[in-house]
Amino acid sequence: MKAAITAVAHNVPPDVYDNVWFESKIDTNDEWIKTRTGITERHFAFEGGVTDILLPAAKSVLEQRGLTPEDIDLIILATITPDRVFPSSAAILQRKLGATNAWGFDLAGACSGFLYALVTGAKMVESGAVKRALILGGDKMSSILNFEDRTTCVLFGDGGGAVLLEATDDDTFGVVDHILRMDGRGEDFLHQKAGGSLRPPTIETVTNREHFVYQEGQAVFKSAVKGMADVSFEIMQRNELTADDVAWLVPHQANLRIIDATADRMGLSRDKVMINIDRFGNTTAGTIPICLSELHINKKVAKGDYVVLSSFGAGYTWGSVLIRWAIDT
Ligand code: UT7
Repeated sequence: MKAAITAVAHNVPPDVYDNVWFESKIDTNDEWIKTRTGITERHFAFEGGVTDILLPAAKSVLEQRGLTPEDIDLIILATITPDRVFPSSAAILQRKLGATNAWGFDLAGACSGFLYALVTGAKMVESGAVKRALILGGDKMSSILNFEDRTTCVLFGDGGGAVLLEATDDDTFGVVDHILRMDGRGEDFLHQKAGGSLRPPTIETVTNREHFVYQEGQAVFKSAVKGMADVSFEIMQRNELTADDVAWLVPHQANLRIIDATADRMGLSRDKVMINIDRFGNTTAGTIPICLSELHINKKVAKGDYVVLSSFGAGYTWGSVLIRWAIDT
């Protein structure tokens, strides 16, 4: 028995902020942002929490399958911007959705959070422990962005998505294989300095603006290019897939140059690479489900297609997941 994605949806806040919006606030410009990252605009929600962003996507996947909230057994919500430190955003979403039969938890895998959650959920479904798992990935990055730091605030956006995982009797469909990695030495280069148990909030931490994303971009870039390309190539190789066999690479959307390096390593032409970083920026745990949802909505992915999902982010965490698409177009 395999676990397959049987429904997918996404949601982003309505308000759009283009690169020019930043020009009056910090020393940056549209040209720099576009050429260094590929980003043109992003969505921000300055009100509400991450569960408000994810709830419409959760409702949509249920609607697509004609299910009720009570049909969900497990909720795994990947985020680094939970509504509150506790209770989990999974619990908050469970209440808002009315999924009274579900248990669940948050998963803090940063940009790889959705892939970690997808694989965890798939194993729970495959084992028979749960019948239906709702897997969500999303972030309200605007809540942890220092809008005075030009090296980080232009990179991110708010948004996320959801997939439903269900058992499939046909073993050739669903989550086929995964490679997930972690290297805690990455903490130095990408982290949030305060707000956790190590450095709880104080007037000093707030004054020092320590509650925001801290990133050493070049160091992360180098590791991301190697990490994401390596696992994406490895998963193709060990499943004996050529570039012709892969319908889509769905990469984490942090930087167009990282995405290009991954596609090159896999030998994939650009028409097989899902890119929407231009419209959404880096939504952290949200990028991959948003990409999958847009592919599905635009009928660009067909039942039986091999799709390689890849990510790299804080931790460091990275990985690649091979899926065989199970939804009828
Ligand atoms: O998703 C989580 C994982 N994160 C990533 O994968 C991100 C990986 N890193 C990157 O994508 C890139 O390193 C960045 C997009 C963050 C930065 O691009 P870069 O080509 O590595 O630029 P840089 O950091 O080397 O900076 C080049 C110059 C610097 O100026 P000087 O020192 O050469 O005078 C920066 O201060 O660009 C400057 N700069 C900016 N200029 C205009 C940095 N940010 C900006 C900005 N606007 N927003």
